[in-house]
Amino acid sequence: MAFTIKVNGSTHSVDVDGDTPLLWVLRDVLGMTGTKFGCGMALCGACTVHVDGAAVRSCITPVDSVGDAAITTIEAIGATAAGAKIQKAWVEREVPQCGYCQSGQIMSAAALLAMNPQPTDADIDGAMSGNICRCGTYLRIRAAIKQAAQGQGG
Ligand code: FES
Ligand code: FES
Repeated sequence: MAFTIKVNGSTHSVDVDGDTPLLWVLRDVLGMTGTKFGCGMALCGACTVHVDGAAVRSCITPVDSVGDAAITTIEAIGATAAGAKIQKAWVEREVPQCGYCQSGQIMSAAALLAMNPQPTDADIDGAMSGNICRCGTYLRIRAAIKQAAQGQGG
């Protein structure tokens, strides 16, 4: 069945089953491989994208549930104000190690910062707790979010 979805400002028609996870539509149909597969069960956060600005796990999001919502992926998050600040801080803090989890980490962090420009430690913990990093980059992630938040203030 054909679905029309809006990704990173462009409209795409995709011919897939309605229960196909958004993750596989992005990766396999649209060729946007920046969004990663980790667990497929909403347990790791590697597949995080934004749907109307909210961080969602694309591995458990059926394509037929998205409707007209605006989907943003790691490929375009740098074009948003919060995403640009997060990516800059990520580079300056040298956050990634192997990198596999980092698309999802950045998407969750950018959603947090867009909704909450001055997050507390508890806010950061709450927003990021579903994003697992096997390399243990958590301290650098927290520092980068704080740096990005300070950047927002001036
Ligand atoms: S792949 Fe979606 S949460 Fe792990
Ligand atoms: S940087 Fe390797 S899993 Fe997070």
